[in-house]
Amino acid sequence: MRSHHWPTAAALFTAYIAGVDALNNGLARTPHMGYNTWNCFAGDINEDIIKSTADIMVKSGLIKAGYDYLVIDDGWSELDRGKDGRIMASKTRFPSGIQHVADYVHSKGLKYGMYSDAGSKTCLGLPGSRGNEELDAQYFADLGVDFLKYDNCYASASDWIVDRYSAMRDALNRTGRPILFSMCNWGAGDPWKWAQKVGNSWRTTQDIENSWDGMLRCLDNTIGLSRYAEPGAWNDPDMLEVGNSGLLENEQRSHFALWCLLKSPLFIGADLRKLSKSALEILTASEVIAVNQDPLGVAGDLIWKEGPIEVYAGPLKGGSRAVVLFNRHSITTQYPISNVTVTWKQLGYPSDAQATVRDLHAEKDVGVFAEAFTAGVDIHDAVMVKITPLKSQQKYDDWRPWPERDTLQPSPASTSFA
Ligand code: GLA
Repeated sequence: MRSHHWPTAAALFTAYIAGVDALNNGLARTPHMGYNTWNCFAGDINEDIIKSTADIMVKSGLIKAGYDYLVIDDGWSELDRGKDGRIMASKTRFPSGIQHVADYVHSKGLKYGMYSDAGSKTCLGLPGSRGNEELDAQYFADLGVDFLKYDNCYASASDWIVDRYSAMRDALNRTGRPILFSMCNWGAGDPWKWAQKVGNSWRTTQDIENSWDGMLRCLDNTIGLSRYAEPGAWNDPDMLEVGNSGLLENEQRSHFALWCLLKSPLFIGADLRKLSKSALEILTASEVIAVNQDPLGVAGDLIWKEGPIEVYAGPLKGGSRAVVLFNRHSITTQYPISNVTVTWKQLGYPSDAQATVRDLHAEKDVGVFAEAFTAGVDIHDAVMVKITPLKSQQKYDDWRPWPERDTLQPSPASTSFA
């Protein structure tokens, strides 16, 4: 008698995902950049904050640096839907009406983003969109929304996460308006395995906290996931804390350099009315941002680690590499500086290749090196360089930063049918 071979849950999952329709919005070919209200204001938002943020994004040069979305996070709506079932913006927070706010943001040359949730309520307990996807997607499209952040609170465990997010993806597609779809599902359901067809980015972690350890937790949860990112679909280790009080200046610099290298979406979450000059400099470092926005669209990753010393790298179009040399030694250590080395071998170059090393923060060439480059890196700081071989760059274009090492291999698909 022939034995029956039942497909494994993993095979069923793969087959199911292969049949899922795509997100056809053509957006986020490079990681999205902008401003989001949550990290600094939480739910305490209003129309003055949004309008002054829009003004400053233009005046400070942030929009020129690439930050072109202004996103209102949780807290914007009334507690109840209207009689017609439509979600309603808070009249006390937005006395001139949410359309006025959307129009104001657009009039500044910015794109306008809003927030909802793939459950019955948002995390602040306001109306979520589950079951009302069509109505809400149309509401957002009618307002001229260009970006939707979609959270994961108040969802029923039996309502599969892929279905919940795909329902809003489909509803957004049906409006005919290109709306960037930013999935905020905290890494739940291992989105890197399936969300390329659903969202333009997916959160890999719980919320960032305004602290060094909080930032590192988001980083560590994203390591090893670079292979799943591609143009239009990015890992999102959460929004930036640059400019907030919890990180020292060097910590903000390394946070930003790492997020750029990982090809994270870059969303500022500080009060722009009080932004320090140094935070603005970090956020507008054009050669660092250029790595994030590089047209090759391959995310960088951790390629070497020894204790608290880490090397991150990714390929750039034309055969160069972006490298972040990172020192995460405890602040109480006796030695403030560590030498951190990257070898050409680690980057897929022949050891004898002559290559220019450029410091992307200083915007200066450091020199021409063969075999390796070493920098002294301050505690909690990062040195970010671009390495460009003098000859035959093109042939180095297909190197990828995902190592063979088992420790960085993702586990096999574990999501099963609920
Ligand atoms: C969740 C998200 C945050 C933010 C809040 C809003 O915690 O992960 O980014 O949107 O909800 O309530």
